[in-house]
Order: sequence, then C-alpha cells, then structure tokens
Amino acid sequence: MQSAHLLVTGGAGFIGANFVHYWLAQHPCDRVVVLDALTYAGNRASLAAAEGNPNFRFVHGNILDLGLVEGLLRDEKIDTIVHFAAESHVDRSIHGPDAFIETNVVGTHTMLKAAKSVWLDSVQSPLDGGGGSGRGHRFHHVSTDEVYGSLGPDDPAFTEDTPYAPNSPYSASKAASDHLVRAYHHTYGLQVTTSNCSNNYGPYQFPEKLIPLVLLNILHGKALPIYGDGKNIRDWLYVEDHCRGIDLVLQRGAVGGVYNIGGHNEWTNIDIVTLICRLVDEAIAQDPVLAQRFPQAPAAQGKAADSLITYVKDRLGHDRRYAIDARKCRTELGYAPQESFETGIRKTIVWMLANEAWWRAVMDGSYRDWLDRQYGG
Ligand SMILES: NC(=O)c1ccc[n+]([C@@H]2O[C@H](COP(=O)([O-])OP(=O)(O)OC[C@H]3O[C@@H](n4cnc5c(N)ncnc54)[C@H](O)[C@@H]3O)[C@@H](O)[C@H]2O)c1
Repeated sequence: MQSAHLLVTGGAGFIGANFVHYWLAQHPCDRVVVLDALTYAGNRASLAAAEGNPNFRFVHGNILDLGLVEGLLRDEKIDTIVHFAAESHVDRSIHGPDAFIETNVVGTHTMLKAAKSVWLDSVQSPLDGGGGSGRGHRFHHVSTDEVYGSLGPDDPAFTEDTPYAPNSPYSASKAASDHLVRAYHHTYGLQVTTSNCSNNYGPYQFPEKLIPLVLLNILHGKALPIYGDGKNIRDWLYVEDHCRGIDLVLQRGAVGGVYNIGGHNEWTNIDIVTLICRLVDEAIAQDPVLAQRFPQAPAAQGKAADSLITYVKDRLGHDRRYAIDARKCRTELGYAPQESFETGIRKTIVWMLANEAWWRAVMDGSYRDWLDRQYGG
C-alpha cells in the first residue's frame, strides 16, 4: 500500500502529540507533518520522541495562515489532514470566547479552504504527483461530544443523530466547525470524516485539565477543587484509544461520515477524584522513594489524599452529563477501546511520575527555554 502523507494540525497539543506517536509507531512508512502555533497549550517537548524520525517534520505556524497551509499541502504532497488544532478548554472559553471563534471556526474554515483549493480546485492536484497516482484525499475533523449539549440522568447516550445543542462558547465553536466540515463535503465534494469523542485523559495532557490537575495537586499537597456538588458526569476515554478510533475512521470510515468515539465509561467528577486519591496514596505507600520525591503529598505525611478535596462555586452553565453511544464505531469499524478506566488511570499516573521534567517545565513555562536549547527555537 502506498504511504500516506499526513498533516496533523495541533500536533503539539495533548491528543495531537499522542496521535503523532501512535501514528509513527503504527504506520512507520507514512510521513507526518505537524502544524502547530504553540499556544500556551502546545508543547513541542511532547513531540521530542519523534524529532529524530526522518518521516516527521514540525512546522511552527498558524492554521489561520492560508498561504502557509496551502504551501504545506502542495510541498509535502499531503493527502490526509487530521485536524486537532483548537482552543480546547471550556473554562477559558467562558472568560475569553473570541480566541475560540477565531481558531475553532475561522481556523477550521481556513483549513477547509486550503484543502479545497489544493485538492479540488488546482488544475493539477499535487496528489497526482505529475504521474496520475490517483491517490485520494481525506480531511478528518476531530470534534467533541460537547456539541450535543447536556443529558439528564436517564437520557440515552449521544448518537450521531442526536441534534446539536452546544452550551458553552467552546462547544458552540466546535459545533460551528463541524457544520462547516459537513458543508464542504456536501457543497464541494471534499472528502471529509468527523469524529466526536468523549473526554480524554493520558500522557501529555496540559495540567489545567481535571485528571492531571488532581494528580499534580495531590503530589504537591494542594487543594483539589471540585465544581458544584461534584456529581457532573463525563464519559472518559484513554487518549490512545481515541487515536486508535481516528485511525479506524481514516482506514474504514465512509466519506462524509460522522463517528462517535467513546468507551461507555461514565464517571462523576467526585468519583474520579476519589479514585485518583486512592491510587496515588497506594503508590506512595508502596514506594518510599516517591514519598521522598513528593514530601508534601498527604500519603508522605501519613494522611489520605481525599482530605484535600475542596468544593468550589460551580462553572457557569456547567453541563450535567455527557455520554457517548459508540455503537456505530463498533459495528461499522470494529472499534473497541483497549483500556479500562482503572488501567488507563494507572498508566497515566505511572507516566506522570516518570515524566516529572515534562510537567514541571510545562507548569513553569521553562519548556520554552528548554526548546531553545534543545532545538534552537
Ligand atoms: N481533550 C479532550 O478531552 C477532547 C475530547 C474530544 C475532542 N477534543 C478535541 O480534540 C482536539 C485536541 O484537543 P486537545 O485536548 O489535545 O487540545 P490542546 O489544547 O491540548 O491542544 C491544542 C493544540 O492546538 C494548537 N493550536 C491552537 N490554536 C492554533 C492555531 N490557531 N494554529 C495552529 N495550532 C493551534 C495548540 O498550540 C495546541 O498544541 C480539539 O479539537 C478538541 O476540541 C478534545
């Protein structure tokens, strides 16, 4: 089979970086070009393991730069776009929605325009390679279950036919981008697929998100903030299982298709925090070196981590429950997640404990200095 040439936008972010490592391992002959603006959430250090690979290239740039994206599509003979780049944090969207409209809506539209112009409108598509290779193209858009709105306790989980009802500026901007992707397929024939995934967790997740935040706060003996009554429910998926789902959509998904990716794994926030408390307490109790490395962790002082739980004022417009019905993915694509929540959380904890330099640098911003030293800026 001919090797694919991927452009991965947002590949220095949490899921994007995991996807790059996953893809290079699973498809070693493919070329992977990352386009990332390195906003506060982007971290080139997350791609360090790929840097020496001749099939990998990092481009520091913005998806809003139409000329740059068109140039990359042509020069790199890109046949597959996997579009992760986005502003992704709901809390930030509440305080500053503009960046979300700019990147998630206008940025996605810029990516679509570039793909249309190079793949569909050019007199000679670079995918013909001058020799008429006839290789197809694919624009895969990575979206979220939050576009479907909030569920009541007994409502059925979101299917691909659930009407959109986004509630936060983040989910509204993602919904708008989903509609643009759909429109470019129906209007212009762009070969698109979209996946809507539940909450992810795992290595390289920026420490402002719930699971890494809780983990690091326990290690530092800091309060564990829980919104409202802690009973909000999210459906959690280990990030590599998300990457595997996107791979299946790319290989077997129907052009124009939408796929919900999830693991039927609903947890209240408070239960997650309690689970992480228990697992970290156990890890520290079993390993005296950890107690020395993290002397402020409650378990290092003979206390339980759940003593740090602190309830805080609820997030504005906080959606109560998300749940993904992933049956279509399972029956049409043969998708099944490989991690249970407990195995995935354990892996995440082990990764965080083994990668202290990564998260310390992310937290104090010095990873930018590290990058300068490592890669010359
Ligand atoms: N994290 C989740 O639980 C989750 C769940 C479902 C879907 N998603 C979607 O997956 C995608 C990735 O999410 P994530 O959690 O990895 O996000 P993230 O915030 O960790 O990463 C986003 C990346 O995009 C880059 N970026 C932002 N604006 C850019 C721009 N204008 N040009 C180029 N690059 C830009 C950032 O530098 C960063 O590297 C998003 O589209 C998000 O909506 C996330």
